[in-house]
Amino acid sequence: MKHHTFVSLLFFFNLSLVTGCHENEREALLDFKSFVADLSNRLSSWQGLNCCSWHGIYCSKSWHIVSVNLENPAPDRVVINGNKKLVSMSKEQVAMSTSISSALKGTISSSLFTLSHLRFLDLSFNNFMSSKIPTGLSNLTSLTHLNLSNAMFEDSIVAQLANLTSLRVLDLSCSYEVPDVSSISYNLTLKKVNGGSLHSFIHRGSLHSSNLKWLEGLHNLRELRLAGVDFYEASQSNKWAEPISLLSNLRSLHLFNCRVLSAIPINQLLNLIHLYSLRMDSNSFTSPIPNQLANLTSILIFGTVPNSLGNYTSLISLNLGGNNFSENIPSEIEGAKNLSYLDLSGNHFEGLFPSFIQKLEMIEVLKLAHNIFEGKIPQFIGDLKNLCIILLAWNFFNGSIPEEITKLEKLQYMDFSNNEFSGPIPEKIDGMRMLTSQSRDAIPLGYFILLLLVGVNIEIVTKGSSYQLERVYTYISGIDLSCNTLTGNIPQEIGLLHGLYMLNL
Ligand SMILES: *[C@@H]1O[C@H](CO)[C@@H](O)[C@H](O)[C@H]1NC(C)=O
Ligand SMILES: *[C@@H]1O[C@H](CO)[C@@H](O)[C@H](O)[C@H]1NC(C)=O
Ligand SMILES: *[C@@H]1O[C@H](CO)[C@@H](O)[C@H](O)[C@H]1NC(C)=O
Ligand SMILES: *[C@@H]1O[C@H](CO)[C@@H](O)[C@H](O)[C@H]1NC(C)=O
Ligand SMILES: *[C@@H]1O[C@H](CO)[C@@H](O)[C@H](O)[C@H]1NC(C)=O
Ligand SMILES: *[C@@H]1O[C@H](CO)[C@@H](O)[C@H](O)[C@H]1NC(C)=O
Ligand SMILES: *[C@@H]1O[C@H](CO)[C@@H](O)[C@H](O)[C@H]1NC(C)=O
Ligand SMILES: *[C@@H]1O[C@H](CO)[C@@H](O)[C@H](O)[C@H]1NC(C)=O
Ligand SMILES: *[C@@H]1O[C@H](CO)[C@@H](O)[C@H](O)[C@H]1NC(C)=O
Repeated sequence: MKHHTFVSLLFFFNLSLVTGCHENEREALLDFKSFVADLSNRLSSWQGLNCCSWHGIYCSKSWHIVSVNLENPAPDRVVINGNKKLVSMSKEQVAMSTSISSALKGTISSSLFTLSHLRFLDLSFNNFMSSKIPTGLSNLTSLTHLNLSNAMFEDSIVAQLANLTSLRVLDLSCSYEVPDVSSISYNLTLKKVNGGSLHSFIHRGSLHSSNLKWLEGLHNLRELRLAGVDFYEASQSNKWAEPISLLSNLRSLHLFNCRVLSAIPINQLLNLIHLYSLRMDSNSFTSPIPNQLANLTSILIFGTVPNSLGNYTSLISLNLGGNNFSENIPSEIEGAKNLSYLDLSGNHFEGLFPSFIQKLEMIEVLKLAHNIFEGKIPQFIGDLKNLCIILLAWNFFNGSIPEEITKLEKLQYMDFSNNEFSGPIPEKIDGMRMLTSQSRDAIPLGYFILLLLVGVNIEIVTKGSSYQLERVYTYISGIDLSCNTLTGNIPQEIGLLHGLYMLNL
């Protein structure tokens, strides 16, 4: 008996080594390959019989293809420079002006949709040349993960995906954030920086949807990312977001830069008890911010949190930047005790430094830049023990920078530039441990934080070249107090700040 099992096991391995994968599935992949140009030779391993060992392919125990991961490993990293030109961010790419794109370019062969065991499909950041989202996708009913983000599709989303009811992750984003310093200039007479937003969105592809009904059946969704999908027409109806309220398993919802023109659909979001990440920045939501947002207390931060933020098991993130809100921030937000990421920048908020922030004991990232706040920075700032990043630039804050700020041991980056601060720079900054001790490469800061660093340095502004930008991108910690009327000596301790890589006075 034992012997028999052994023999059949041997036979099984033998067979599989020879065949490796199902011939019809192998042919389907080869057909897919024949429809795309592959300049960087990413698919060079796509030959021979065992398609299960090809790049990006993963098979089940029964040798059926269950995963096709052809995400572009190196999408262009670009920046909009001072001349409003889109330029490449990496020096290497600039140097080799003929750098080869790693995007697959062409159309999607319908043979791909015969891979009926497929559960995971990622084609993000390739170039499907303004083709439509293939209707054949709806045959892949086992799919749990579909990532078509920024892959140059052009289409109206109607019901192409409505039958994919197993989906847990769906990413149809067609726009992403790039650094943009084009609206920033330096007035030599006034010695002041005039600035606007520090980032822009660029589109890769063009998708729109006149209503969200197609989401109704996708009740297994955990992550839904629709950044850049145009919902202008959909949001004309005040019930536009109702299908979202049915997605009760949703953990993460990205609806930024979607041209949504309405009030925040708070009643639709309150059902989403698992929601931990909500991005709705860069739309045209109408004021006010609803009080009930404070009841979304389980909102955590994005899926990928920079390690630098340390203990992020209970992080909460709220990003309402760039929406032109002007009415008051509801003080109920002070009840969101676990809030650790708060972005209210780029709106028209006015008045004093919001006092509810005192209650946000967990706050790690606080962004109030580009508003009309005024008055002094309250001393309680020193009690926000977890603060890592504080951006107050481009407001009308005045008075002196409180000594209490030096108690913030975790502080990595503060930008107080372009306010009306006066008086001495706080002296005993040796309490700021992260700034004084962090070694240069120790903190792998996430992209979204790096974005914030761009444009706050006058050097970049006057030179405006991508080379300068890149340098700034590598700064990890920094203090920016520029464009204020600070007096007195530069504290000696600044010389001790080994962790400090940018100092702009
Ligand atoms: C989709 O792919 C892009 C890049 O290839 C990635 O940044 C994004 O996080 C993916 N989406 C999801 C929901 O995982
Ligand atoms: C999808 O499935 C239907 C029915 O099984 C079939 O007729 C059609 O050809 C399939 N489409 C693709 C693109 O495979
Ligand atoms: C979805 O499934 C229904 C019923 O099974 C079918 O009638 C419809 O054509 C399918 N939709 C798509 C886009 O394949
Ligand atoms: C700089 O500011 C001065 C004083 O407000 C103004 O007259 C001048 O036009 C500004 N220069 C530029 C280039 O904007
Ligand atoms: C915000 O207001 C500015 C002018 O006040 C306008 O240029 C901009 O388009 C507005 N943004 C949105 C998202 O409505
Ligand atoms: C938040 O939820 C609590 C309990 O469900 C409720 O009493 C309170 O009114 C809600 N707050 C807001 C602002 O909706
Ligand atoms: C992280 O959180 C856990 C649980 O809340 C806590 O016990 C631990 O001390 C925290 N670690 C740090 C480094 O803050
Ligand atoms: C904050 O997070 C902790 C643990 O991560 C959790 O036990 C607590 O219920 C949360 N508080 C609120 C108000 O959600
Ligand atoms: C700071 O600004 C407030 C409000 O704008 C004003 O009342 C106060 O006089 C200013 N203080 C200083 C020192 O400039």
